[in-house]
Amino acid sequence: MHTLLFTTNNKNKVAEIQSLVGPDFKIITLQEAGIDIDIPEPHDTLQENAFEKASTIYSLTQQNCFSEDTGLEIEALGGAPGVRSARYAGADRDFQANIDKVLAELKNHPNRIAQFRTVICLLWAEENNPPKTFYFEGICKGEISSSMMGENGFGYDPIFVPEGSNKSFAQMNMEEKNVFSHRQKAVTQLFEFLAKKK
Ligand code: IMP
Repeated sequence: MHTLLFTTNNKNKVAEIQSLVGPDFKIITLQEAGIDIDIPEPHDTLQENAFEKASTIYSLTQQNCFSEDTGLEIEALGGAPGVRSARYAGADRDFQANIDKVLAELKNHPNRIAQFRTVICLLWAEENNPPKTFYFEGICKGEISSSMMGENGFGYDPIFVPEGSNKSFAQMNMEEKNVFSHRQKAVTQLFEFLAKKK
């Protein structure tokens, strides 16, 4: 069995990813590894932020690890909030304030096309070799609703309706969200890659 450190303490993300992991991999969170740091996300791309998180944790632990960074990209806002999704309305990562800001900016706007994009960065070392870096991407296309719908999930889930559904992510349970989810698509690629390493 491979142990793999996931560089997050976001319980929603861990639960989503755990629901996809087979028995051959044991996923450990930062908390479970006894690491208590807030890793900055200072870069302009999801890829660079994902690498920053994974490489910071790899240098602390020397353990194979992966990180993920996700952004909501709204066409009418030129791709915003994008890499700034967590702090769109301010430094305190307030989900409700972020949603309110997006809804205000899109008020009466006819173009509501958006997508979630997840980038996973894996640092993987075999035997005593230095780690190699691998990236995996998952995209979920959809639309921003005109108001909040549903109570489940987290972040922008109440205002994002994926293509092929008329429900927001927050009106779905985790299984339903996984059918569409950007994170699910990126994680599936990660585990297809890792399955070859068993
Ligand atoms: P980060 O990847 O944790 O930096 O997330 C960036 C922002 O996107 C945060 O505000 C998250 O709440 C939000 N976010 C990430 N993934 C999802 C998702 O699956 N649904 C809704 N919001 C998300």
